[in-house]
Amino acid sequence: MIDTDPNRLVITRPDDMHLHLRDGEMLKAVAPISARHFARAIIMPNLVPPVVTLGDAVAYRERILRALEGSESPQSFEPMMTLYLTETTDPEDVAKAAASAIVKAVKLYPAGATTNSQSGVQNIDAVSPVLDRMAELGLPLCIHGEVTHDEVDIFDREAVFLETVLDPLRARHPELRIILEHVTTEEGVDYINGAAKNLAGTITTHHLMINRNQMLAGGIRPHYYCLPILKRRSHQEALRKAATSANKRFFLGTDSAPHTASTKETACGCAGCFTAPNTLSCLAHVFEEEGALPNLESFTSLNGADCYGLARNSETITLEKASEPVGYQSHLSVAGSERVAVFDPSVPLYWRVI
Ligand code: NCD
Ligand code: ZN
Repeated sequence: MIDTDPNRLVITRPDDMHLHLRDGEMLKAVAPISARHFARAIIMPNLVPPVVTLGDAVAYRERILRALEGSESPQSFEPMMTLYLTETTDPEDVAKAAASAIVKAVKLYPAGATTNSQSGVQNIDAVSPVLDRMAELGLPLCIHGEVTHDEVDIFDREAVFLETVLDPLRARHPELRIILEHVTTEEGVDYINGAAKNLAGTITTHHLMINRNQMLAGGIRPHYYCLPILKRRSHQEALRKAATSANKRFFLGTDSAPHTASTKETACGCAGCFTAPNTLSCLAHVFEEEGALPNLESFTSLNGADCYGLARNSETITLEKASEPVGYQSHLSVAGSERVAVFDPSVPLYWRVI
Protein backbone atom coordinates (compact mmCIF):
# COMPACT_ATOMS: atom_id res chain seq x y z
CA MET A 1 0.00 0.00 0.00
CA ILE A 2 1.16 3.57 -0.59
CA ASP A 3 1.19 5.95 2.32
CA THR A 4 -0.15 9.42 1.68
CA ASP A 5 3.53 10.45 1.37
CA PRO A 6 4.66 9.52 -2.18
CA ASN A 7 8.20 9.01 -0.91
CA ARG A 8 7.20 6.28 1.54
CA LEU A 9 5.96 2.82 0.81
CA VAL A 10 4.79 0.38 3.47
CA ILE A 11 4.57 -3.22 2.30
CA THR A 12 4.09 -6.65 3.82
CA ARG A 13 7.49 -8.03 4.78
CA PRO A 14 8.86 -9.79 1.67
CA ASP A 15 9.85 -13.39 1.01
CA ASP A 16 12.73 -14.38 -1.24
CA MET A 17 11.59 -17.46 -3.14
CA HIS A 18 15.05 -18.38 -4.52
CA LEU A 19 18.14 -17.76 -2.41
CA HIS A 20 21.65 -19.19 -2.16
CA LEU A 21 23.02 -18.98 1.37
CA ARG A 22 26.00 -21.33 0.90
CA ASP A 23 27.67 -22.84 3.98
CA GLY A 24 30.45 -22.22 6.50
CA GLU A 25 31.94 -18.73 6.68
CA MET A 26 30.02 -17.52 3.62
CA LEU A 27 26.74 -18.59 5.24
CA LYS A 28 27.62 -16.66 8.39
CA ALA A 29 28.37 -13.56 6.35
CA VAL A 30 25.32 -13.58 4.04
CA ALA A 31 22.45 -15.09 6.08
CA PRO A 32 21.99 -12.02 8.36
CA ILE A 33 21.76 -9.79 5.28
CA SER A 34 18.72 -11.59 3.87
CA ALA A 35 17.19 -11.85 7.36
CA ARG A 36 17.30 -8.07 7.70
CA HIS A 37 14.58 -7.49 5.11
CA PHE A 38 13.02 -10.86 4.32
CA ALA A 39 10.75 -12.94 6.53
CA ARG A 40 11.34 -16.22 4.74
CA ALA A 41 13.33 -17.62 1.85
CA ILE A 42 13.33 -20.73 -0.29
CA ILE A 43 16.88 -21.99 0.24
CA MET A 44 18.66 -23.52 -2.73
CA PRO A 45 20.23 -26.93 -2.10
CA ASN A 46 23.27 -26.71 -4.43
CA LEU A 47 25.92 -27.12 -1.77
CA VAL A 48 28.91 -29.41 -2.23
CA PRO A 49 27.77 -32.11 -1.54
CA PRO A 50 24.15 -31.15 -2.28
CA VAL A 51 21.21 -31.19 0.14
CA VAL A 52 19.55 -34.37 -1.10
CA THR A 53 17.70 -36.02 1.78
CA LEU A 54 15.39 -34.80 4.52
CA GLY A 55 18.26 -35.45 6.94
CA ASP A 56 20.54 -33.16 4.91
CA ALA A 57 17.88 -30.44 4.87
CA VAL A 58 17.29 -30.65 8.63
CA ALA A 59 21.04 -30.34 9.27
CA TYR A 60 21.47 -27.46 6.81
CA ARG A 61 18.51 -25.60 8.32
CA GLU A 62 20.14 -25.91 11.75
CA ARG A 63 23.37 -24.43 10.37
CA ILE A 64 21.43 -21.52 8.86
CA LEU A 65 19.63 -20.80 12.12
CA ARG A 66 22.94 -20.99 14.00
CA ALA A 67 24.50 -18.55 11.54
CA LEU A 68 21.72 -16.10 12.42
CA GLU A 69 22.13 -16.39 16.18
CA GLY A 70 23.39 -13.15 17.61
CA SER A 71 22.88 -11.24 14.34
CA GLU A 72 21.15 -7.91 14.62
CA SER A 73 18.06 -8.92 12.72
CA PRO A 74 15.15 -7.71 14.85
CA GLN A 75 12.69 -10.25 13.51
CA SER A 76 12.70 -13.94 12.87
CA PHE A 77 13.74 -15.47 9.57
CA GLU A 78 12.46 -18.79 8.32
CA PRO A 79 14.63 -20.81 5.96
CA MET A 80 12.28 -22.88 3.81
CA MET A 81 14.29 -25.85 2.66
CA THR A 82 14.46 -27.61 -0.70
CA LEU A 83 15.78 -31.02 -1.68
CA TYR A 84 18.16 -31.42 -4.61
CA LEU A 85 16.59 -33.95 -6.94
CA THR A 86 18.86 -36.75 -8.13
CA GLU A 87 18.15 -39.88 -10.14
CA THR A 88 18.38 -41.87 -6.92
CA THR A 89 16.10 -39.68 -4.79
CA ASP A 90 13.78 -41.91 -2.78
CA PRO A 91 10.06 -41.02 -3.14
CA GLU A 92 9.49 -42.14 0.46
CA ASP A 93 12.11 -39.70 1.75
CA VAL A 94 10.43 -36.96 -0.28
CA ALA A 95 7.08 -37.88 1.29
CA LYS A 96 8.61 -37.62 4.77
CA ALA A 97 10.17 -34.29 3.81
CA ALA A 98 6.80 -32.96 2.65
CA ALA A 99 5.23 -34.02 5.94
CA SER A 100 8.04 -32.42 7.96
CA ALA A 101 6.92 -28.83 7.21
CA ILE A 102 10.53 -27.69 6.86
CA VAL A 103 10.90 -28.75 3.21
CA LYS A 104 8.77 -26.68 0.85
CA ALA A 105 9.94 -27.85 -2.58
CA VAL A 106 12.22 -30.12 -4.57
CA LYS A 107 14.72 -28.56 -6.96
CA LEU A 108 15.49 -29.96 -10.40
CA TYR A 109 18.85 -29.03 -11.87
CA PRO A 110 19.59 -30.51 -15.28
CA ALA A 111 23.07 -32.01 -14.77
CA GLY A 112 25.71 -29.44 -15.64
CA ALA A 113 23.33 -26.47 -16.04
CA THR A 114 24.87 -24.22 -13.41
CA THR A 115 27.01 -23.86 -10.27
CA ASN A 116 27.25 -27.19 -8.39
CA SER A 117 24.75 -29.01 -10.59
CA GLN A 118 26.95 -31.96 -11.44
CA SER A 119 24.75 -34.32 -9.34
CA GLY A 120 21.62 -33.14 -11.15
CA VAL A 121 19.29 -35.08 -13.40
CA GLN A 122 20.51 -36.45 -16.71
CA ASN A 123 17.57 -38.67 -17.59
CA ILE A 124 14.31 -37.02 -16.62
CA ASP A 125 12.37 -40.30 -16.99
CA ALA A 126 14.39 -41.69 -14.10
CA VAL A 127 12.72 -39.26 -11.69
CA SER A 128 9.13 -39.93 -12.79
CA PRO A 129 8.23 -41.94 -9.66
CA VAL A 130 9.39 -39.05 -7.45
CA LEU A 131 7.45 -36.53 -9.52
CA ASP A 132 4.30 -38.67 -9.34
CA ARG A 133 4.63 -38.80 -5.58
CA MET A 134 5.18 -35.04 -5.37
CA ALA A 135 2.06 -34.44 -7.44
CA GLU A 136 0.04 -36.57 -4.99
CA LEU A 137 1.54 -34.70 -2.05
CA GLY A 138 1.13 -31.26 -3.60
CA LEU A 139 4.86 -30.59 -3.11
CA PRO A 140 6.12 -28.12 -5.76
CA LEU A 141 9.00 -28.77 -8.14
CA CYS A 142 11.33 -25.81 -8.68
CA ILE A 143 13.12 -26.05 -12.01
CA HIS A 144 16.33 -24.57 -13.35
CA GLY A 145 14.94 -24.31 -16.87
CA GLU A 146 17.87 -24.63 -19.22
CA VAL A 147 19.07 -27.40 -21.48
CA THR A 148 22.75 -28.16 -21.22
CA HIS A 149 23.67 -29.54 -24.65
CA ASP A 150 26.77 -28.00 -26.18
CA GLU A 151 25.02 -27.62 -29.51
CA VAL A 152 22.39 -25.25 -28.05
CA ASP A 153 23.51 -21.63 -27.89
CA ILE A 154 23.71 -20.37 -24.32
CA PHE A 155 21.23 -17.57 -25.06
CA ASP A 156 18.66 -20.12 -26.34
CA ARG A 157 18.90 -22.65 -23.55
CA GLU A 158 15.81 -21.50 -21.68
CA ALA A 159 13.57 -21.29 -24.74
CA VAL A 160 14.70 -24.74 -25.93
CA PHE A 161 14.09 -26.16 -22.45
CA LEU A 162 10.46 -25.00 -22.48
CA GLU A 163 9.74 -26.82 -25.68
CA THR A 164 11.83 -29.95 -25.34
CA VAL A 165 11.75 -30.64 -21.60
CA LEU A 166 9.17 -28.62 -19.68
CA ASP A 167 6.24 -29.03 -22.02
CA PRO A 168 6.51 -32.84 -22.22
CA LEU A 169 7.14 -32.98 -18.46
CA ARG A 170 3.97 -31.03 -17.75
CA ALA A 171 2.03 -33.27 -20.12
CA ARG A 172 3.26 -36.36 -18.25
CA HIS A 173 2.61 -34.86 -14.80
CA PRO A 174 -0.33 -32.46 -15.21
CA GLU A 175 -1.06 -32.40 -11.46
CA LEU A 176 2.51 -31.52 -10.48
CA ARG A 177 2.90 -27.95 -9.26
CA ILE A 178 5.89 -26.38 -11.00
CA ILE A 179 7.81 -23.17 -10.42
CA LEU A 180 10.02 -22.18 -13.31
CA GLU A 181 12.92 -20.50 -11.56
CA HIS A 182 14.59 -17.28 -12.66
CA VAL A 183 12.69 -16.75 -15.90
CA THR A 184 14.87 -14.71 -18.23
CA THR A 185 13.11 -14.66 -21.60
CA GLU A 186 9.96 -13.41 -23.24
CA GLU A 187 9.32 -17.02 -24.26
CA GLY A 188 9.41 -18.01 -20.58
CA VAL A 189 6.96 -15.27 -19.62
CA ASP A 190 4.60 -16.22 -22.45
CA TYR A 191 4.85 -19.90 -21.62
CA ILE A 192 3.87 -19.28 -17.99
CA ASN A 193 1.03 -16.99 -18.99
CA GLY A 194 -0.25 -19.59 -21.43
CA ALA A 195 -0.37 -22.48 -18.95
CA ALA A 196 -3.79 -23.61 -17.85
CA LYS A 197 -2.68 -24.44 -14.29
CA ASN A 198 0.09 -25.48 -11.90
CA LEU A 199 2.79 -23.20 -13.27
CA ALA A 200 4.36 -20.02 -11.89
CA GLY A 201 7.72 -18.31 -12.28
CA THR A 202 10.25 -16.43 -10.20
CA ILE A 203 12.14 -13.43 -11.54
CA THR A 204 15.47 -12.18 -10.20
CA THR A 205 16.41 -8.65 -9.24
CA HIS A 206 19.34 -8.46 -11.63
CA HIS A 207 17.39 -9.63 -14.69
CA LEU A 208 14.98 -6.75 -14.06
CA MET A 209 17.78 -4.21 -13.61
CA ILE A 210 20.20 -5.04 -16.43
CA ASN A 211 20.55 -6.86 -19.73
CA ARG A 212 23.50 -8.38 -21.58
CA ASN A 213 24.69 -5.00 -22.80
CA GLN A 214 25.63 -3.99 -19.27
CA MET A 215 27.58 -7.25 -18.98
CA LEU A 216 29.42 -7.10 -22.29
CA ALA A 217 29.42 -3.65 -23.93
CA GLY A 218 32.43 -1.48 -23.25
CA GLY A 219 34.25 -4.17 -21.26
CA ILE A 220 33.38 -7.53 -19.74
CA ARG A 221 31.90 -7.28 -16.25
CA PRO A 222 32.27 -10.59 -14.47
CA HIS A 223 30.04 -9.56 -11.58
CA TYR A 224 27.09 -9.48 -14.00
CA TYR A 225 27.75 -13.02 -15.19
CA CYS A 226 24.98 -15.28 -13.92
CA LEU A 227 22.92 -18.22 -15.09
CA PRO A 228 20.61 -18.22 -16.87
CA ILE A 229 22.70 -15.64 -18.69
CA LEU A 230 21.43 -12.08 -19.13
CA LYS A 231 19.51 -11.75 -22.39
CA ARG A 232 18.84 -8.87 -24.77
CA ARG A 233 16.87 -5.80 -23.75
CA SER A 234 13.54 -6.94 -25.24
CA HIS A 235 13.59 -9.90 -22.84
CA GLN A 236 14.37 -7.62 -19.92
CA GLU A 237 11.34 -5.55 -20.92
CA ALA A 238 9.09 -8.65 -20.98
CA LEU A 239 10.31 -9.57 -17.49
CA ARG A 240 9.68 -6.05 -16.23
CA LYS A 241 6.15 -6.16 -17.57
CA ALA A 242 5.48 -9.56 -15.98
CA ALA A 243 6.92 -8.55 -12.61
CA THR A 244 5.28 -5.16 -12.30
CA SER A 245 1.79 -6.08 -13.48
CA ALA A 246 0.66 -7.77 -10.22
CA ASN A 247 0.21 -10.95 -12.26
CA LYS A 248 -0.21 -13.70 -9.62
CA ARG A 249 1.99 -16.12 -11.56
CA PHE A 250 5.18 -14.12 -11.08
CA PHE A 251 7.05 -13.37 -7.87
CA LEU A 252 10.47 -12.53 -6.51
CA GLY A 253 13.25 -15.07 -6.28
CA THR A 254 16.38 -12.94 -6.03
CA ASP A 255 18.76 -15.78 -6.92
CA SER A 256 21.25 -13.86 -4.79
CA ALA A 257 24.29 -16.10 -5.32
CA PRO A 258 27.45 -14.95 -3.56
CA HIS A 259 30.86 -15.95 -4.90
CA THR A 260 34.15 -14.51 -3.71
CA ALA A 261 35.63 -11.77 -5.89
CA SER A 262 38.63 -13.98 -6.64
CA THR A 263 36.43 -16.71 -8.15
CA LYS A 264 34.56 -14.22 -10.35
CA GLU A 265 37.42 -11.94 -11.42
CA THR A 266 39.36 -14.66 -13.19
CA ALA A 267 39.80 -16.28 -16.61
CA CYS A 268 36.87 -18.65 -15.99
CA GLY A 269 34.61 -16.88 -13.52
CA CYS A 270 31.70 -18.32 -11.54
CA ALA A 271 28.09 -17.47 -12.32
CA GLY A 272 26.03 -15.57 -9.77
CA CYS A 273 25.12 -12.05 -8.62
CA PHE A 274 25.04 -11.13 -4.94
CA THR A 275 21.92 -8.99 -4.76
CA ALA A 276 20.68 -9.64 -1.22
CA PRO A 277 21.95 -6.35 0.28
CA ASN A 278 20.29 -3.95 -2.18
CA THR A 279 17.51 -5.99 -3.75
CA LEU A 280 14.65 -3.97 -2.32
CA SER A 281 16.25 -0.65 -3.35
CA CYS A 282 16.68 -2.04 -6.87
CA LEU A 283 13.12 -3.35 -7.06
CA ALA A 284 11.56 -0.12 -5.85
CA HIS A 285 13.61 1.63 -8.55
CA VAL A 286 12.32 -0.73 -11.26
CA PHE A 287 8.71 -0.54 -10.12
CA GLU A 288 8.85 3.24 -9.93
CA GLU A 289 10.35 3.43 -13.43
CA GLU A 290 7.51 1.25 -14.68
CA GLY A 291 4.93 3.43 -12.90
CA ALA A 292 3.94 0.42 -10.80
CA LEU A 293 5.04 1.07 -7.20
CA PRO A 294 1.64 -0.04 -5.85
CA ASN A 295 2.33 -3.50 -7.34
CA LEU A 296 5.70 -3.98 -5.63
CA GLU A 297 4.07 -5.70 -2.66
CA SER A 298 2.35 -8.31 -4.85
CA PHE A 299 5.67 -9.25 -6.41
CA THR A 300 7.81 -9.29 -3.27
CA SER A 301 5.40 -10.33 -0.56
CA LEU A 302 2.07 -11.79 -1.70
CA ASN A 303 2.21 -13.80 -4.92
CA GLY A 304 4.99 -16.13 -3.76
CA ALA A 305 3.33 -16.93 -0.44
CA ASP A 306 0.02 -17.56 -2.21
CA CYS A 307 1.67 -19.82 -4.79
CA TYR A 308 3.39 -21.90 -2.09
CA GLY A 309 0.15 -22.01 -0.06
CA LEU A 310 1.77 -20.17 2.86
CA ALA A 311 0.15 -17.61 5.12
CA ARG A 312 1.14 -14.08 4.13
CA ASN A 313 3.53 -12.37 6.52
CA SER A 314 1.88 -10.15 9.09
CA GLU A 315 4.76 -7.68 9.66
CA THR A 316 5.53 -4.81 7.31
CA ILE A 317 8.63 -2.99 6.11
CA THR A 318 8.89 0.64 5.09
CA LEU A 319 10.75 1.95 2.07
CA GLU A 320 11.65 5.58 1.79
CA LYS A 321 12.82 7.60 -1.19
CA ALA A 322 15.70 9.93 -0.44
CA SER A 323 16.52 13.08 -2.37
CA GLU A 324 20.15 11.94 -2.80
CA PRO A 325 21.29 8.51 -4.04
CA VAL A 326 21.48 6.00 -1.20
CA GLY A 327 24.93 4.63 -0.48
CA TYR A 328 25.65 1.02 0.35
CA GLN A 329 28.68 -1.14 0.91
CA SER A 330 30.24 -2.26 -2.36
CA HIS A 331 31.77 -5.40 -0.83
CA LEU A 332 31.11 -7.81 1.96
CA SER A 333 34.02 -9.34 3.86
CA VAL A 334 33.97 -13.06 4.44
CA ALA A 335 36.10 -14.45 7.26
CA GLY A 336 38.34 -11.40 7.14
CA SER A 337 40.27 -12.14 3.97
CA GLU A 338 37.83 -12.81 1.13
CA ARG A 339 35.46 -10.29 -0.42
CA VAL A 340 32.13 -10.64 -2.18
CA ALA A 341 31.08 -7.82 -4.50
CA VAL A 342 27.57 -6.51 -3.90
CA PHE A 343 25.49 -6.19 -7.09
CA ASP A 344 26.15 -2.86 -8.80
CA PRO A 345 22.73 -1.65 -10.01
CA SER A 346 24.47 0.47 -12.69
CA VAL A 347 22.24 3.46 -11.89
CA PRO A 348 21.84 5.57 -8.74
CA LEU A 349 19.23 4.23 -6.34
CA TYR A 350 17.05 6.46 -4.18
CA TRP A 351 14.85 4.00 -2.31
CA ARG A 352 15.92 2.19 0.82
CA VAL A 353 14.40 0.16 3.59
CA ILE A 354 14.24 2.16 6.81
C1 NCD B 1 23.77 -19.91 -8.90
C2 NCD B 1 24.88 -20.26 -7.90
O1 NCD B 1 25.93 -19.62 -7.92
O2 NCD B 1 24.65 -21.13 -7.07
N1 NCD B 1 24.34 -19.09 -9.93
C3 NCD B 1 23.67 -18.26 -10.75
O3 NCD B 1 24.28 -17.67 -11.65
N2 NCD B 1 22.38 -18.03 -10.61
C4 NCD B 1 23.17 -21.16 -9.43
C5 NCD B 1 21.87 -20.97 -10.15
O4 NCD B 1 20.85 -20.62 -9.56
O5 NCD B 1 21.83 -21.17 -11.38
ZN1 ZN C 1 19.94 -19.83 -8.16
